[in-house]
Amino acid sequence: MQVYHTAAELRAALSGQTNTAFVPTMGNLHAGHISLVALAKQHGHPVVASIFVNPLQFGAGEDFERYPHTLDADCEKLAAAGCDTVFAPDVAELYPAPQTFTVCPPDSLAQDLCGAFRPGHFSGVATVVLKLFNLVQPRVAVFGKKDYQQLRVIHELVRQFNLPIDILAGDTLREANGLAMSSRNGYLSASERIQAAQLQRQLAAIVAAAQAGERDFEALCATASRHLKMAGWRIDYVALRDATTLQTPTPGSTRLVVLGAAWLGSTRLIDNIEFTLLGNLP
Ligand code: PAF
Repeated sequence: MQVYHTAAELRAALSGQTNTAFVPTMGNLHAGHISLVALAKQHGHPVVASIFVNPLQFGAGEDFERYPHTLDADCEKLAAAGCDTVFAPDVAELYPAPQTFTVCPPDSLAQDLCGAFRPGHFSGVATVVLKLFNLVQPRVAVFGKKDYQQLRVIHELVRQFNLPIDILAGDTLREANGLAMSSRNGYLSASERIQAAQLQRQLAAIVAAAQAGERDFEALCATASRHLKMAGWRIDYVALRDATTLQTPTPGSTRLVVLGAAWLGSTRLIDNIEFTLLGNLP
């Protein structure tokens, strides 16, 4: 496995490749990322992973400064997973000048849900992903469903800018107690890690109630929020949406997703569950 730190080296190494499968990451890799590499391997060659903690997608007061940098351990995991190439630039390499030209996803996607609590986040994500796509020029790129709204933003980026890239979505991997794997789980204490599984359980309870015929989705989400609050969480949102548009479900919506973002202590966690509604919406 080759590791490159500059755009010029990466471009030279990938020149002429037409079937590249790309897995963008911010490093601090866990089994969820490795499953994305495994998916990439099924769909293209070479497999390229990037490791870059993107300052543009962190707001003031967020965890950019404390985000773990674990390049050596990450490279070992990627090599073991059969990744061919790693691109690990530093900030000056990817942003040699201030990035004054940015990609602004539509408000309907970027100002809602996580975007409402993290202003500028999805613009930062879309901008760095477009830069990485231009450097790697992949045929396919793999993103995790754990960051469900991000995945929708990337789909829309590719569609509206006519990028010749197929986007593949990897399923969320979970700990034995149901907690979605996330680099940010590393911030949790041992007892918080146990408690953190409550988020997934509350989302699952919403899915179960919807499948049982409950159609007052707002009430279901409010109940889940209340339970989490009582257990000590600070809620950003719990919402049930159409899985494709991420808007409020319409009578035509069958594929739905319930999403939540909430704080346990100083750690913000997100999770979601996609499901197909049995029965119709009113
Ligand atoms: O999902 C992530 O790790 C990041 O948002 C991404 C896609 C690598 C862009 O920085």
